[in-house]
Amino acid sequence: MKKDIYKVAVIGCGRIGMLMEHDKKRPKPATHTGAFDSNPRTELAAVVELDPEKQKEAKKMYPEVQVFGDAEEMFKKINLDIVSIAAFQSAHYPMVMLAAKHKVPVIVCEKPIADTEEEGREMIEACKNAGSKLIINHIRRFDPFLQEWAEKVKDGIVGEVQQATTLYAIGLYHMGTHLIDLIRLYLGDIEWVAAWQNKRAHTAVPEDWCVDGIMGLKSGARVTLQSLNVKDYSTLELRILGTKGEVFMRDLGRVIEHTPISESKDFEGFHELHVDERKEYRAKDQIFFKGLSSHVVDVLDGKVEPASTGEDSLKALQILAALKKSGEKDGRKIVI
Ligand SMILES: NC(=O)c1ccc[n+]([C@@H]2O[C@H](COP(=O)([O-])OP(=O)(O)OC[C@H]3O[C@@H](n4cnc5c(N)ncnc54)[C@H](O)[C@@H]3O)[C@@H](O)[C@H]2O)c1
Repeated sequence: MKKDIYKVAVIGCGRIGMLMEHDKKRPKPATHTGAFDSNPRTELAAVVELDPEKQKEAKKMYPEVQVFGDAEEMFKKINLDIVSIAAFQSAHYPMVMLAAKHKVPVIVCEKPIADTEEEGREMIEACKNAGSKLIINHIRRFDPFLQEWAEKVKDGIVGEVQQATTLYAIGLYHMGTHLIDLIRLYLGDIEWVAAWQNKRAHTAVPEDWCVDGIMGLKSGARVTLQSLNVKDYSTLELRILGTKGEVFMRDLGRVIEHTPISESKDFEGFHELHVDERKEYRAKDQIFFKGLSSHVVDVLDGKVEPASTGEDSLKALQILAALKKSGEKDGRKIVI
């Protein structure tokens, strides 16, 4: 139901929930609390955090906002339009189930959707039964620039896709999930994977893995996956090569280069990517968390359906699990 102002609570006031708002370099808003506090159509009414130190910080940063230590208590006291779950991965399942029990109209949850596929399926089912719309924070899905280029690729700007190559860092479940989600957005379903653990690449958290591998798309094209050390790189790149040219998403999605194929200047009968005809496109005002809160408002206004669904994130989780399993079996091919 459309309202002038939608009431929001954020669960989990850690780095991406709240604290990154202090990072001087990040474009603002940079967090869940920042996103919903700065959007004129949303009111940050409450936050829930287990850690007393972070609760104190929340009171300092948002004096008007009610601070809770227990989510159930908050749900009982406040009638919400949106809950945004930025707690760590193992808390996604219990918090989404609780939010669905309280029939919150829009439930935003951090990626990856859950620890296991079974949990992910239950979360999707519970939200459906409650009439809640579940949105997973694969944040590039809310960015008009990256969505526009996904449409261009689907409409054939590079012709028939032959191959794609990718790079990521930080870890498979931390950053790799964004990459897998983007590959699905740009290139469609992934049918099989084969992967090897990259033991030289350090991850952001010790329990995460980096894998290198190859994935087969439903279209028949293949995608390579390569990881870099988080100590040296924070990167996310997707290079798509088709029969008519190349689309190269680089700089974490801030820049897209398009290079068409034309006849070679030097070799008769051959075709090349022509650097002289390469065009670089830069996203304007690309602030992912601003995109998130605007998208949530559009969903509640009834203008759009969620751009990043539970089903999409469950697919991404299945692929992450398959990549890890293949990595454990030294590159065994796994069909999704
Ligand atoms: N979308 C993105 O771009 C992006 C970026 C970074 C992290 N993340 C994801 O966000 C999630 C959190 O990551 P982080 O780096 O902010 O972690 P973090 O550990 O810094 O913060 C998590 C916070 O959640 C709190 N918490 C846990 N369970 C809770 C509960 N039941 N009730 C209330 N608070 C609870 C913890 O006390 C902690 O403060 C992870 O799933 C991570 O993968 C997403």
